[in-house]
Formats: sequence, structure tokens, C-alpha cells
Amino acid sequence: MQKTAITSAEIAPVLANRWSPRAYDVNHTASQHELLSILEAGRWAPSANNAQPWRFSIATRGSELFDQIVGAFTGFNQSWAPNASALLVISVLNQKADGTPYPGALLDAGLAAQNMMIQTEELGLAAHPIGGMVHDEMRKVLDLADNLDPIMAMTIGKRADASVLEGPAYEREVAPRVRLELDEIVLHGKP
Ligand SMILES: Cc1cc2nc3c(=O)[nH]c(=O)nc-3n(C[C@H](O)[C@H](O)[C@H](O)COP(=O)(O)O)c2cc1C
Repeated sequence: MQKTAITSAEIAPVLANRWSPRAYDVNHTASQHELLSILEAGRWAPSANNAQPWRFSIATRGSELFDQIVGAFTGFNQSWAPNASALLVISVLNQKADGTPYPGALLDAGLAAQNMMIQTEELGLAAHPIGGMVHDEMRKVLDLADNLDPIMAMTIGKRADASVLEGPAYEREVAPRVRLELDEIVLHGKP
């Protein structure tokens, strides 16, 4: 299914065509090369002072870690995420080397996340970001050190027809993509 963004000026096709599916082909397997490519895209994201406060965990369908990560998702996400070919969890450093708070790490990690989602799309696959998780549970599953917090996951896989879904997941799959108008979000200087 195509859900190309309707824009008032052209944007890069990979941006216009990216969208977050919940219907995945359960017969697809992500190759090691595809997963490496996605991780490299995250690695090369920009970050303040080039501090790179992100850490990535990746698991493929069929592995114990994959099932454990699904188990740390909230209920709705557990209903559709298991069909993805791989799951990626992003954790961030929660303090700087000098022990002071590190709120900027979240912004940096968001840039890495978007890099990885765009790379996934470029590979002909599709990613879906997931914030709905039980953080303490995810922390245990990933055996994270105290200075790391899990903040976001994403599914990676091959799109399937919406008919593989049912209930709320199906409804959301076929719903049109919507955004605020530019007039609502550009405070100054809109052309
Ligand atoms: C940080 C973040 C967390 C999200 N968490 C969830 C989630 O837990 N479950 C879910 O189904 N979608 C989740 N989404 C997906 C959004 O609902 C989706 O990106 C948004 O509706 C726009 O749709 P699009 O990505 O198809 O353009 C999340 C997206 C982001 C960026």
C-alpha cells in the first residue's frame, strides 16, 4: 500500500513515501547486510559535540531476544510487532561523563532513529517506531547498565497487505496519513 505524503512542494521521495506499517510479511527474513546497513545509518547520525549517546540492540524474529523485546512492549504493540523481521531498540546515555544530566541525548537519539528509518525505507523495507514499552522490563531484557535508558524501538520488515491485520491495527493501517498544516506549525517566515 502506498501512502505518499501530499505536500505543497516536492520533498525527497524517500521522505514522502516512508510511512509506519503494522502489517509485515512473516515469511520475510532480514539479511545481515540489511541490518548492518541500518545500524551504520544510525551510527552516522549527527550529535551534539559528536558525543553519539545512542546504543542499539537488534534481534531477528525467531530469536529468544526478539520474543523478550516483544514481551516488554505494551499490549497493542504486542498484537502486531511479532510479524516484523527484526526489532531494534535504542537506548541513550542518561548522564554525561561528568555525571551531569544529559537531556540532549534524546534529541541526538531521535536523529539516529530517523536515519535508521530512512535507511530501512531505502532498502525497500519498512520501519515502525515504537515508544510503547514497559521501560523497566525492557531495561531487564537488554541487561542495560545504570547509565543507559531504553527510549524507543522500531520494527523492521517487509510490508504486507493490510488484510493480515484485524481490529484497531487494521483500522490504523488503512487510515490516511495526516499532519498539521504548515500554517499551524511555521511560526515565522512561511513562503
Ligand atoms: C517516538 C515515537 C513513538 C511511537 N510509538 C508508537 C507505538 O508505541 N505504537 C504504534 O503503533 N506507533 C507508534 N508510533 C508511530 C506513530 O503513531 C506514527 O509515526 C505517526 O502516526 C505518523 O505516521 P507515519 O509514521 O505513518 O507517517 C510512534 C512514533 C514515534 C515517532
